[in-house]
Amino acid sequence: MRKVLITGGAGYVGHVLTPRLLDAGYQVTVYDALFFGCRLPNDPKLRVVKGDIRDTERLAAEFAGQDAVLHLACISNDASFELDERLSKTINYDCFEPMVVAAKRAGVRRFVYCSSSSVYGVSNSPEVTEDHPLVPLTLYNRFKGLCEPLLWKHKSEDFTCVVMRPATVCGYSPRTRLDLSVNILTNHAVNKGVITVFGGLQMRPNLHIEDMVDAYQLMLTAPHEKIHGQVFNIGFENHSIADLALIVKRVVAEEMPERGAVEIVTTPSDDSRSYHVSSEKIYRVLGYRPKRAIEDAVRDLTRAFHNHLLDDSFDNDWYYNVRTMKRIGAA
Ligand SMILES: NC(=O)c1ccc[n+]([C@@H]2O[C@H](COP(=O)([O-])OP(=O)(O)OC[C@H]3O[C@@H](n4cnc5c(N)ncnc54)[C@H](O)[C@@H]3O)[C@@H](O)[C@H]2O)c1
Repeated sequence: MRKVLITGGAGYVGHVLTPRLLDAGYQVTVYDALFFGCRLPNDPKLRVVKGDIRDTERLAAEFAGQDAVLHLACISNDASFELDERLSKTINYDCFEPMVVAAKRAGVRRFVYCSSSSVYGVSNSPEVTEDHPLVPLTLYNRFKGLCEPLLWKHKSEDFTCVVMRPATVCGYSPRTRLDLSVNILTNHAVNKGVITVFGGLQMRPNLHIEDMVDAYQLMLTAPHEKIHGQVFNIGFENHSIADLALIVKRVVAEEMPERGAVEIVTTPSDDSRSYHVSSEKIYRVLGYRPKRAIEDAVRDLTRAFHNHLLDDSFDNDWYYNVRTMKRIGAA
């Protein structure tokens, strides 16, 4: 697998994944609508194609000659569906199967689909494993889950298909999102000195962005027989939101003592999504364990704020998916 096409490779995760694969010697094509622009490095091994995954014909031409596809492109936010349900459905669901068929026809040998651990919705199970029923609470979760069986329809011995269900990602990227839980808490702690916790008892799994990228890289080299037709949860630590707030408070105090103590304010919430995800399968099958803690992500972000890499963090729409989509009038 030397030639890889990443849909959505210019997003939050893509801005860490793409340089990593380039460094590892891969030839990378990023196929992305560039809703958030592009800060990817200049590299002779990188082609950036501004294109829409709903344009199957165009995408099919780009698939020719690729060994593997990492599918990340997505309207990646629960709230984005409130913004424009039709837009999100066309991108996150309608074009999915035509894309898989086009990849297979073009001779792509491996297709990695980035689903989400949010497909489980709410569960009281002490450990949510990959065979747990999907009880999605939002349209985003529902379409993420509905694409998975569409991928299985086309799997074959010469077309390796694998689904990853990552936890909520956190940490610094050249295209940092500040609309994800740990990143939101850190932004508020560093720049306002106050964190508001909604509810607080909901359990949420989280994952350092570099660990997410490790897992993608692993899927390019893992043997077919170990991953074909498999779903893998990927998370580091399951924490309650209240615990996350305490981690953020502690790390910001260590990194920026001049900031003074961060205040935590707790308010009621109707967001009941709660799940405790097990990531044992990917360890059992592939020996993969995330290496970075949530506090490492908080530390990286705190330093990025300090070094003015994330200025204007409340007012600049670019850090926020829904606000950016509204501003550019994506359709
Ligand atoms: N960030 C997380 O916490 C998280 C957790 C679990 C799963 N995921 C999944 O990982 C993937 C990447 O997430 P992210 O946080 O980097 O999201 P992101 O919103 O930062 O990136 C998505 C990218 O897809 C592109 N895109 C959107 N619609 C497109 C279209 N129609 N055609 C071409 N490109 C299009 C956007 O321009 C953007 O660059 C998504 O599939 C997401 O569902 C993310």
